[in-house]
Amino acid sequence: MIPTRAEAERLLSEAESCNPGPWGNHSRIAAHCGEKITEACDGMDSEKAYIFGLLHDIGRKFGVSHLKHVSDGYTYMMSLGYDEVAKICMTHSFNTQSVKDYIGNFDVTEEELKLINAVLDQVIFDDYDRLIQLCDALAGSERVLDIEERMGDVKRRYGAYPQEKWDTNIRLKEYFEQKAGRDIYAIVEKETYKS
Ligand SMILES: [Fe+2]
Repeated sequence: MIPTRAEAERLLSEAESCNPGPWGNHSRIAAHCGEKITEACDGMDSEKAYIFGLLHDIGRKFGVSHLKHVSDGYTYMMSLGYDEVAKICMTHSFNTQSVKDYIGNFDVTEEELKLINAVLDQVIFDDYDRLIQLCDALAGSERVLDIEERMGDVKRRYGAYPQEKWDTNIRLKEYFEQKAGRDIYAIVEKETYKS
């Protein structure tokens, strides 16, 4: 189950008031990218993609966090019955389906880490999981970014970037370009779109 677009927007605004930060606009830009890319792909639901983009980081409602925002988002969305969003909250950070490639602090309890591993062990990625992984990598907090520049930036800040994660992001971009038959940056209006 997923919320309506209006309910998703309300949930994001409410969450932002609990923990204000650039993550709110990052989520809106990811939603924009998701909507545009799916409009260009046969058989995908752009409303669903928009809602997933809007809520993928909703775990940030509960404070400034790293890995914890993933389990917080999953648990929060499950508590509201939005299981499909919960799945996205979990999968968006792990394009290699492994917690070992997470870039950031492991600020989770043992229980939360167990939950993340348990979900990652049994989950099967679909095109919406792949889509939001890509959109997360494209969305800045003010505009759409060049995916390699964005990853290079993360690499500089954290001192490393797992090669498999990097390569997977590039493959995701190519995958959706092939599906859409167009350049990703043109589809998401990279040069002109402003949140
Ligand atoms: Fe996230």
